[in-house]
Amino acid sequence: MKRIAILTSGGDAPGMNAAIRAVARKAMYEGLEVYGINYGYAGLVAGDIHRLDIADVGDKIQRGGTFLYSARYPEFAQREGQLKGIEQLKKFNIDALVVIGGDGSYHGAMRLTEHGYPTIGLPGTIDNDIPGTDFTIGFDTAINTVLESVDRIRDTATSHTRTFIIEVMGRGAGDIALWAGVAGGADDIIIPEHDFDMAHVAKRLKDGQERGKKHSIIMLAEGVMSGDEFAKKLAEHGDFDARVTVLGHVQRGGTPTARDRVLASKLGAYAVDLLLEGKGGLCVGIKDNKIVANDIIETLENDKHHPDMSLYQLNQEISN
Ligand code: F6P
Repeated sequence: MKRIAILTSGGDAPGMNAAIRAVARKAMYEGLEVYGINYGYAGLVAGDIHRLDIADVGDKIQRGGTFLYSARYPEFAQREGQLKGIEQLKKFNIDALVVIGGDGSYHGAMRLTEHGYPTIGLPGTIDNDIPGTDFTIGFDTAINTVLESVDRIRDTATSHTRTFIIEVMGRGAGDIALWAGVAGGADDIIIPEHDFDMAHVAKRLKDGQERGKKHSIIMLAEGVMSGDEFAKKLAEHGDFDARVTVLGHVQRGGTPTARDRVLASKLGAYAVDLLLEGKGGLCVGIKDNKIVANDIIETLENDKHHPDMSLYQLNQEISN
């Protein structure tokens, strides 16, 4: 093993830069040459590959986004693109690849593994929806970003005695809504992993208002429905004068938290250790507070991400 490459793919996440830095620095520490691939799999196929030296990853740990840029590139699901990607890696004499990203990125890494190319996946997405890990790089920063907005919204909600529906990201996963909902004291949390009954939601809100509650907050995961749609349906159950805030891509930016930087650093360095041991075809993660590696094909085929549903029950019991 002499040369490795790194790419970031899919939706960016705070802490991706810290992960690139950790992979690159650890690899250089071990005497390897490191290459960066711009724009994820799109850049891989196009051969947008360049040597990274130690200074290239300096002053990056605190920056949001990814300095290797990212792209959504569904074309990589096709065999032709995958083989072209491997051809490019071989052209640069690169022996192994580290992919930092979410579900789509992991599937790309799985395909490269199936073609026999040594690849390791690092979980980088704000959604926290990756199997094989309890937490993804970027999730902690995203929930703290959401929380800051919830606290601000609470101020104005109280002044006007209003109900707010806060729509958060997470595609098909409710993790952001769950964690930010509990931390923000939301009256109700609506996520794809749990059914809800609008009449019951309305009753919780009404009960709170009758007790003199000055504000109500519903944390809604985008995967359920849009905030506007939810507000319309809620209005069928009473006059809540609800306002909708869609936090959108604000959740993807910003300085990574210490927790995300440390996770990224640990996972990045571990990926290099594994490659040096001659191990590829893996995804790394953190399970029960331990850094782990799992077979990427098996993980994607047999493992499913499940949010911590105890948070849902907890919120029902302690909010409102
Ligand atoms: O990367 C994850 C994510 O932020 C999801 O939460 C969201 O649904 C999606 O990406 C948005 O994708 P895009 O930035 O491509 O619109």
